[in-house]
Amino acid sequence: MTLVYPRDSFSVHPPRDYAGYRSTAKRAPKRPLVVIPQTLTELTGPVYGHDAVRPGDDDLTRQHGGEPLGERIIVHGRVLDEDARPVANTLVEIWQANASGRYIHVADQHPAPLDPNFTGAGRTATSADGTYKFITVKPGAYPWRNHPNAWRPAHIHFSLFGHSFVSRLVTQMYFPADPLFPFDPIYNSVPDENARQRMVSSFDLDNTVPEWALCYRFDIVLRGRHQTPMEHA
Ligand SMILES: [Fe+2]
Repeated sequence: MTLVYPRDSFSVHPPRDYAGYRSTAKRAPKRPLVVIPQTLTELTGPVYGHDAVRPGDDDLTRQHGGEPLGERIIVHGRVLDEDARPVANTLVEIWQANASGRYIHVADQHPAPLDPNFTGAGRTATSADGTYKFITVKPGAYPWRNHPNAWRPAHIHFSLFGHSFVSRLVTQMYFPADPLFPFDPIYNSVPDENARQRMVSSFDLDNTVPEWALCYRFDIVLRGRHQTPMEHA
């Protein structure tokens, strides 16, 4: 048995080679892609379940002895398919810079402080109604040397696993009204303005917790006309 996942809508997703995003020139294929049918090996495993997620993995503010510095926030939403049906029990992983705009990574030499109480990675599985929720701190903008005075808008990286490894999808969530949007080649590599807006979370006052944390809502649509733009692997 062989199956082929439906091709993406390339009007929504960013092109693999985008002139303004310098490093894509090195990693984008120069020849047309060869579509290889997937077999049961790729389509059935590994399957992730609740066992892979430990209690507390969804709270990035409680992974160390103290609380991280910065603005505590709640990020939640739903994972939906093309017909707006919830996608249950899918693994959602996030990674992000700390409140100062610094990652714990050898390649990140941005002269901003690391936070001993913040690693910047979390995971959870969607519930039966497709919802997920993280507690974290709002990430800072950071410089990235793509062009003179290049700064990434504040963002949280998202990875979603479907029912098998080959269905993994990766995207970035942004915050409303970021002044860096017009200058960011990664954000602007998504060609359609409406599609770009689907990467921007919305401020959620109803789920903001008084005296504790602002809330942002980020729904992720995996396919169809309203799909969230995804990065190519
Ligand atoms: Fe990033």
